Amino acid sequence: MNTANPFRIAVIPGDGIGPEVMEQTLRCLTQLRDDMELPLQWEQLDWPSTAYHQQHGRMMPDDAMERFSAYDAILLGALGDPGPLSNPDRYVLSDSESLSPLLKIRKGFDQWVCERPARLLPGATQYLADERAQKVDMLVIRENSEGEYVAQGGRLRAGTAHEIATQVEVFSRHATERVIRYAFDQARQRARQREEDKRTRRFENADGTTQVSQVCLITKRNALRYWGDMYTEVFAQVAGDYPDVATHHELIDAACMKFVQCPWRFDVVVASNLQGDILTDLAAVLSGGMGVAPSCNLNPDDDSVPSMFEPTHGSAPDIAGQGLADPTAMLFTAARMLSWLGQRRPGLATAGQRLFDATAGDLAEYGAQRRKTTEVGNSVLRRLRS
Ligand code: IPM
Ligand code: MN
Repeated sequence: MNTANPFRIAVIPGDGIGPEVMEQTLRCLTQLRDDMELPLQWEQLDWPSTAYHQQHGRMMPDDAMERFSAYDAILLGALGDPGPLSNPDRYVLSDSESLSPLLKIRKGFDQWVCERPARLLPGATQYLADERAQKVDMLVIRENSEGEYVAQGGRLRAGTAHEIATQVEVFSRHATERVIRYAFDQARQRARQREEDKRTRRFENADGTTQVSQVCLITKRNALRYWGDMYTEVFAQVAGDYPDVATHHELIDAACMKFVQCPWRFDVVVASNLQGDILTDLAAVLSGGMGVAPSCNLNPDDDSVPSMFEPTHGSAPDIAGQGLADPTAMLFTAARMLSWLGQRRPGLATAGQRLFDATAGDLAEYGAQRRKTTEVGNSVLRRLRS
């Protein structure tokens, strides 16, 4: 393959277990790049990170966003408490400070979709006793640009008995429509893939008819009616363009219950920023836990700005620095990054599939065993070489 104009990746190991899982991922990416002559190059940045903050008084340089915009993708390990928890004197910031770069990057590059697949792969821990839970295979689409995360509001009379805190939620029809449409497109694509793989599924509409894919809308419209009603209207309108996709709605509280009771009934799920955030921790557990859950923050309509790929997990200060972190989620995340970039260079999509297959193969073989970070890395690397 032609290596002219390689894609440039900004690699951010970050805090806690971030550098540990990233190291294994870079070993695998190096192997794939060399073996397949991929048009890929990366640079490791020591920011954003808590260590950078300790030295410079901020999580990243003032011109960080400008510098990120020179890259085609951002691959991020984790941000937050660097650990280890046993060291009470470690340099720790408030979560809102250490994690602020995440929100800044998502917002600054209008990464308006957060895609979080939850599929229980062979070897992954099955937390639900019902054997149908083996069939969990959903994609949660989280609105990633507005909603509860707009950071509008303030504190009036702070610290006094009469203090008032406001936290405004903002929902625009534009952002609502694009994310719902994206969910329907993904549902179609998943159905096509399942048909190719001969594992067709059926999903019910409210009237009892069935389709090969489904989008479930999540709201809390019984209490939060303004955005709930707008989401409902836009959902119905967009659904009209996808007669081949079944539709469903759940209130967020009922969705939490059904994710535990019958998660195999879901296909694509679309939710607001905060509700999607909460639901995807639950979905991650259904797919085997945080150690295996990938996540992507995407801007599907502007490839001149980077999208960001980070596992759903955080910096895990309880196990940081001990070589115990599972790099599987980071590896799956990197595989998705390659598939994403592969829309523009097909060779990268093939590499993404290879990385996914090697990681999934490793999980299937050793899943239940507690292994060191490097052991998992070695094993995935071996598969990539064979
Ligand atoms: C996530 C995280 C972040 C979020 C936090 C760290 C701000 O929980 O990526 O799910 O809420 O989006
Ligand atoms: Mn979260």
